Amino acid sequence: MSKLLLIDDEADVQYSFQRIFDSPEIELTTASSGEEGLKLIPRLKPDLVVMDVRMGGMTGLETLRRIRQMDSRLLVILMTAYGTTQTAIEAMKLGAYDYLLKPFDVPKLKEIIAGALKAANDMRQVVSYQPLLEKEDYELGIVGRSEPMQQVFKLIGQLAASDATALITGESGTGKELVARAIYHHGNRSQQSFLAVNCAAIPEQLLESELFGHERGAFTGATMQRIGKFEQCHRGTLFLDEIGDMTPATQTKILRVLQSGTFERVGGNQPIEVNVRIIAATNRPLEEAVAKRQFREDLFYRLNVVRVQMPALRDRKADIRLLVNYFFKKFGREQQQHPKSVGPGVIKLLEKYHWPGNVRELENVIRRALVVAKGDAILISDLPAEIAGDNSSSGAPPAVSDSAHGHSGDIQGLARQLFQWARKDPKLKVIPAVERELVIQALKESNGNQVHAAKLLGITRATLRKRIGKFGIQRELTIQ
Ligand SMILES: Nc1ncnc2c1ncn2[C@@H]1O[C@H](COP(=O)(O)OP(=O)(O)OP(=O)(O)O)[C@@H](O)[C@H]1O
Ligand SMILES: [Mg+2]
Repeated sequence: MSKLLLIDDEADVQYSFQRIFDSPEIELTTASSGEEGLKLIPRLKPDLVVMDVRMGGMTGLETLRRIRQMDSRLLVILMTAYGTTQTAIEAMKLGAYDYLLKPFDVPKLKEIIAGALKAANDMRQVVSYQPLLEKEDYELGIVGRSEPMQQVFKLIGQLAASDATALITGESGTGKELVARAIYHHGNRSQQSFLAVNCAAIPEQLLESELFGHERGAFTGATMQRIGKFEQCHRGTLFLDEIGDMTPATQTKILRVLQSGTFERVGGNQPIEVNVRIIAATNRPLEEAVAKRQFREDLFYRLNVVRVQMPALRDRKADIRLLVNYFFKKFGREQQQHPKSVGPGVIKLLEKYHWPGNVRELENVIRRALVVAKGDAILISDLPAEIAGDNSSSGAPPAVSDSAHGHSGDIQGLARQLFQWARKDPKLKVIPAVERELVIQALKESNGNQVHAAKLLGITRATLRKRIGKFGIQRELTIQ
């Protein structure tokens, strides 16, 4: 739950906030003056303050100044009925997160507040870059003891001690975002804001305005002036994620901020000065994009001041066991009853796999295994087919074509396993799926001879024909 503090002397505004934010996720507290708000903050520890600029007694700007002195990371949104650029700039200079024009548009208000609460939450998440192992406090750590991870930890330490631009590269799911947060948390700017922008998730036209803001009337639909992330993040750290997906126009603008520390809002002509530390990340090979002229070379060099190359999980297999341990603890807390150990052969299989989705994939595999496992331990059969697959079937293939009675135990085991898979994949309908595979196998075994295949399957030739038609198998087998 997030705590929202509204400071406004108008009863009407307090009342509408109570109506708008009547939700279990938000706890709203109201204060009628700057003085009252300042008294409440240390006790309440709000996640976000929304405050009017014009109030009797202490003004909003003065209150904002005092809030900054108390806690420079507390996010404050100012509301003003007088949408002059002057107040807005003044507010942003004092470190307001954003400002709203009154009367406000409710969906817009909700959106801005949700965005601010998310940013507040991002900043709160504590990240440790100590190689985690036996520590009790596993919360959001970066796990790893392997040589490549030791290098990463060293770089995080060095980056935290400086203000240099950092570029974090590596395959998807290797922990780039985790590292960006760690640099922030251990750095000089940890008392200022940390904002993240995913350049790939935002449509091209919106990205520029998200980053740099826009002036009213800059384009159709720009009915209000907007403050972008660079301005919101003044003195703080901006995490530009998936930077390889930016368009050339945005690249040019980013380059300019990096070079001169200034930019203009979209549709504006007044240069705005900011001091923002950039941490960028991408899973695209940027050197290749530069060679293909999809990414500006000068921007690449600007970003690539310090490079953190995240190792793929397959290149640090020694850490797999640690990570499994870590995810056991992490998810164990979410589940009351859960397996406590890992069965024989499981770690070996996990170490053999190539992990295209890296740590994220391992995390998901363990999360699922903990749910589907029946007993005290995670078994090979609790792993997805792509990991356990050939291993569990080549281990003891039940010879169905022989006298089935002698193998009923195997068949039961096989059936159990099929249901494990079916549980993980809700689209898998067991009987049709198995029937189809059996028919194909039987036809292969008998080189397409339908009489033999029917005999292997223990069905009549007519039934076999119907199955072939039903599953559309014919073509596959005549090709082979
Ligand atoms: N070393 C690690 N220790 C513990 N958890 C990790 C580690 N690396 C990654 N994770 C976890 O794996 C998931 C993916 O990490 P993250 O989002 O940082 O990856 P990413 O490199 O940014 O991926 P993408 O390129 O897909 O955005 C997260 O849940 C993160 O907590
Ligand atoms: Mg990421």
